[in-house]
Amino acid sequence: MANAVSSQAKIHAPFGGVVPTLAKREHQKNLIPVLKWALKEAKLLKTQNLKLKTQNYNLKFKTIKQILEREDVLAGKTLNFLKKYQKPLLREGYGGQAKIDLIAVTYGPGLAPALWPGVNLARALSYYWQIPIVGINHLEAHLFSVFLENKKISGFRFPTIALIVSGGHTQLILMKNWGNYKLIGETRDDAAGECFDKSARLLGLSYPGGPVIAAEANKFSISNFQFPIKLPRPMLNSNDFDFSFSGLKTAVLYLVEKLKKEKKNIKNLIPALANEIQNSINEVLITKTIKAAKKYKVKSVILGGGVAANASLRDRLAKTIKNELPDVSYFCPERKFSTDNAAMIALTAYFNLKNRKRKTNWKNLEADANLRLKEIK
Ligand code: KG4
Ligand code: ZN
Repeated sequence: MANAVSSQAKIHAPFGGVVPTLAKREHQKNLIPVLKWALKEAKLLKTQNLKLKTQNYNLKFKTIKQILEREDVLAGKTLNFLKKYQKPLLREGYGGQAKIDLIAVTYGPGLAPALWPGVNLARALSYYWQIPIVGINHLEAHLFSVFLENKKISGFRFPTIALIVSGGHTQLILMKNWGNYKLIGETRDDAAGECFDKSARLLGLSYPGGPVIAAEANKFSISNFQFPIKLPRPMLNSNDFDFSFSGLKTAVLYLVEKLKKEKKNIKNLIPALANEIQNSINEVLITKTIKAAKKYKVKSVILGGGVAANASLRDRLAKTIKNELPDVSYFCPERKFSTDNAAMIALTAYFNLKNRKRKTNWKNLEADANLRLKEIK
């Protein structure tokens, strides 16, 4: 299946980060088109001739409007969609029978205005189509994203340390079994991805900053440009597994100001600066992950989240594990599954149901901006 991509990056770019109200607006606009695209791709999109005047439908549509009452644009689009298309039905294909047996939706953690449109659309579809619904923890999905390539799971063993690094989170999680998580460390301020994004902005680079910093850092190694630029490695040797990246961002700010005062040409120095920012973030992430892996005598290490798309982080972590912990297996997602995607949500729903059988009633599911992974036991 091809990738269904709907990106808001350009919309948020002028602000250097996700703006909750804009995210809500864009989700309302894009959710139905993306859903239609996915159903069509799965050959599950079929039009229908609905006799809309019956009382039953009036009642059902009234409930949909109530579920989506705070997302009026999405409510209108959802009603039109449900009037025009049938419930996705069982069909033959892909070497077997296919049907939608579960609707999985991210319900946290994250920005509440960005979470609600997805949650409410999923609730509306669950109600209307009478398909069970399950809420998925976004961070748990990043963790499971490493299994989207199914050949990988064979070497996976517990205990496991997972480093989840995204735009909103930086966490080290000890996993003793499926669904058994212990948060052993996290950032006290900015997330690693946020540090990439904010540092990029300080260098006048575009959003999201992670990929741009990585690309600039790549130029540095190619050109072999030399300049004595050094940034701190925050909390590198602290006696815990926590992180702190806001000081690093401030150090970038001061360094850029100093270089400007010295009348240095910042543009020429961007590859060197990007390289040092990337090295600093990655060194801290890798050092703490290895320390945790040793302390908890783990058999596997997982890297997940948007920052896991960073080639230098992926490769350096792989090499360090190979050198220092040769018996430990290392798992990171394919790059396209590192940043937020729906495939990891669906896969996590599958794992959850296989192991814990948690289903929700559409009436009870709510977005939870502060959902904690450690609460899943
Ligand atoms: O998981 P994600 O897609 O969304 C959140 O859950 O936040 O992560 C987005 C973050 C952004 O901060 C972005 O700059 C960062 O992942 N990112 C990267 C790279 N690609 C995306 N950071 C470093 N290097 C990359 N290649
Ligand atoms: Zn994410």
